[in-house]
Amino acid sequence: MRKKIVAGNWKMNKSYNDGLVLCYDILDKVAEPKATVVFCTPFIHLYAVNEVLKNREGFFLGAQNCHQEDKGAYTGETSIEMLQSVGVDYVILGHSERREYFGESDALLAQKTNKVLSNGLTPIFCCGESLDIRDAGSHVAHVNAQIEAGLFHLGAEEMEKVVIAYEPIWAIGTGRTASPAQAQEMHAAIRSLIAGKYGADLANSISILYGGSVNAANAKELFSQPDVDGGLVGGASLKADEFATIINSF
Ligand code: PGA
Repeated sequence: MRKKIVAGNWKMNKSYNDGLVLCYDILDKVAEPKATVVFCTPFIHLYAVNEVLKNREGFFLGAQNCHQEDKGAYTGETSIEMLQSVGVDYVILGHSERREYFGESDALLAQKTNKVLSNGLTPIFCCGESLDIRDAGSHVAHVNAQIEAGLFHLGAEEMEKVVIAYEPIWAIGTGRTASPAQAQEMHAAIRSLIAGKYGADLANSISILYGGSVNAANAKELFSQPDVDGGLVGGASLKADEFATIINSF
């Protein structure tokens, strides 16, 4: 059985105190999560959120990025060892905002993926197309190319540890969600691409999350698609009620 995952991507939101309040509020509302829940907080919250989560079954800590080198003169960056030392289990890689605003290339993301995996953490590898690409009908080819460039250098024993998040850029923060059928089409295409290289068993074991305007009202239908194994949630992860409902949508 594939792991069901709901990951909240706080992005650059919440002061330290407000982040802790949010975390406690969500925990109050979700006694026993039916999915693996990941809080991908800004770096400054990680230590404290880990203290809150560490005795709660089913809740894990995620970072939104990491550097590809172990350590050194990289002002403003955060290493995988630092993340590990505060209890991080998951690292979002290749979010479209990092690709677009920080120029993260496929080659860099392949390096970061290696760093995360070789330290025993789980990458949540993001992919997704712009509206132009979707309108041109080349969305599947585009996403396939991102996955091949970022992940297909991995051996099977590494690939099976990866979580993939399909996030169409036109649906991120826009309130315009991919329809369940559009999400299913892409998730099935990703799984079949992986099956072609690594075999059906491995492809069927990988969790593929959908992201892009997931909310309390649409999560259930999206998550009920056969190849959608959960969500990477931005805006709605900042509201305790909404996020709790999303977690309970399986
Ligand atoms: P959104 O963001 O839920 O606010 O659309 C999702 C994401 O970017 O991970």
